[in-house]
Amino acid sequence: MDSFTATAARMPALHADIAEHPEHYRILTGERPTGRLHLGHHFGTIRERVRLQGLGVETFVILADYQVITDRDVAGNVRDHVYGAVLDYLAAGLDPHRTTIFTHSSIPALNQLLLPFLSLVTEAELHRNPTVKAEAAASGRALSGLLLTYPVHQAADILFCKGNLVPVGKDNLPHVEAARTIARRFNDRYGAVFPEPAALVSDAPELPGLDGRKMSKSYGNAIALGMTEDETAAAIKRARTDSERTITYDPVNRPGVAGLLATAAVVQGRAPEEVAAEVGAAGSGALKKLTTEAVNEYLRPHRARRASLTAADAAAVLREGNARANAVAEATLDEVREAMGMTY
Ligand code: TRP
Repeated sequence: MDSFTATAARMPALHADIAEHPEHYRILTGERPTGRLHLGHHFGTIRERVRLQGLGVETFVILADYQVITDRDVAGNVRDHVYGAVLDYLAAGLDPHRTTIFTHSSIPALNQLLLPFLSLVTEAELHRNPTVKAEAAASGRALSGLLLTYPVHQAADILFCKGNLVPVGKDNLPHVEAARTIARRFNDRYGAVFPEPAALVSDAPELPGLDGRKMSKSYGNAIALGMTEDETAAAIKRARTDSERTITYDPVNRPGVAGLLATAAVVQGRAPEEVAAEVGAAGSGALKKLTTEAVNEYLRPHRARRASLTAADAAAVLREGNARANAVAEATLDEVREAMGMTY
């Protein structure tokens, strides 16, 4: 059994325990703010965060702005992406008084944990991380020191608040494993300070983009939550289908059609095959029309809530979240100094 299958097998029992004992858990999860949040984020992670918040699990959400520069030179308009993500969180129902929303670069004590943590891993281990290898290859550039060490930095993201539950996508599982290893090694060397965090992975199939590939801003196949209805219609209109008239759900041979069907299906809460049967011989124009209307109807309340908020609201949420995260990070760093005998 590979580690994803093994982790997935533990999920039913973990979900049951979270529902029964939400007070045993502290969640740390987050995003690399490289673009606008899209429907894939909504169904993949944001909705689940809102649900866990509702169960009463204390939650920290990091906007990992330092992760933006792991594989590129410049941070771009990182502040727009950070503010936009905060607005989407609020519109989706995250409550900033219950959930701490914060940014990497605002929490010095979190970043300082990187130094002792780096001493607990070897260069060979860093080079073995499969996600780092894949990201380095995809970036097409020389491996930066920050990309090589970002899983250790991410361990600091998780452990600064003693997070013990980390909702992540499959691609981030090696990083949760690294955080467990680092916590264990620190505790063995200096005494028990950190929990060994568990990954929480979703069994929901990933929502494909409009071309059937993984939904990603960089592929231009995503529907951003913050798009207008017209922008949504235009994005769907641009999607490439094929010349076969009758609509069928066939992700392998008809990726474009399947991407549209999957999108319409997920927002309508039904199976893609059912949408395909409904459209049938009406063809891809009808499918696009149906998909556009379904997405716009689904996102209308989200977008209305989002439109009632401003950048100043996002800034206020981050001020409060960063203040809370700083207090937690400083308390943990004090414990770390104590454990390491570095109190002066
Ligand atoms: N690497 C994660 C991503 O790309 C974002 C992230 C940063 C994160 N720090 C984290 C996720 C800590 C979980 C826990 O999506």
